Amino acid sequence: MIFDKACFEFAAGKPDQLPESTVPEIVFSGRSNVGKSSLINKLVNRKALARVSAKPGKTGTINFYNLQTCRLVDLPGYGYAKVSQSEKQRWSELVEGYFNAQRNVRLVIQIIDMRHSPSADDLQMIEYLMNSGMPFLIAATKSDKLNKTERINQLQLFQDLFSQAEGLKLIPFSSVNGEGVEEIRSIISEICDH
Ligand code: GTP
Ligand code: MG
Repeated sequence: MIFDKACFEFAAGKPDQLPESTVPEIVFSGRSNVGKSSLINKLVNRKALARVSAKPGKTGTINFYNLQTCRLVDLPGYGYAKVSQSEKQRWSELVEGYFNAQRNVRLVIQIIDMRHSPSADDLQMIEYLMNSGMPFLIAATKSDKLNKTERINQLQLFQDLFSQAEGLKLIPFSSVNGEGVEEIRSIISEICDH
């Protein structure tokens, strides 16, 4: 799989704007500002394919990136307190619309911030994924911000929290130093190239 060949394909702001589901889709989900767009950029080796911002709530649409044999799908982040009620409503309709559309979703990469305990929204999303039967893994991002002890403690905490999800992969990730990039690339290649 050639990750460098990714290109922007489509942005959907409403469920009826979703493009037809054709190739397998790899979905990136997580809280606003957790680093979804940065993770995508790192995977495809580009600085700014997906828009990165220090200001949360930047990605308000579902963005589709084409990778020839599959698509990368950047969901808008949840849980940003300053977003209006109507924006939150629009978010849930859009994301539920996406997940309920019987698309060819082959993997959800649920991204959490490695520095913190998962938020209530994170836990709700993970529970939803566990009940949905969709394959998913957890990328614990911003790993570059933890020292050795913090890292061991956080990984233990996540393992304990998600112990009911048997065989769940937990991948420490950093878009700053590249930790976890190759592992996620090879998982995506495995899905899309076969
Ligand atoms: P929304 O689109 O608003 O939901 O945000 P997002 O989840 O796409 O996050 P984005 O990639 O825009 O990154 C948010 C901020 O976190 C930016 O300031 C990034 O530079 C920073 N960031 C992302 N990933 C990492 C990481 O692995 N390590 C560090 N140190 N900072 C990161
Ligand atoms: Mg984003």
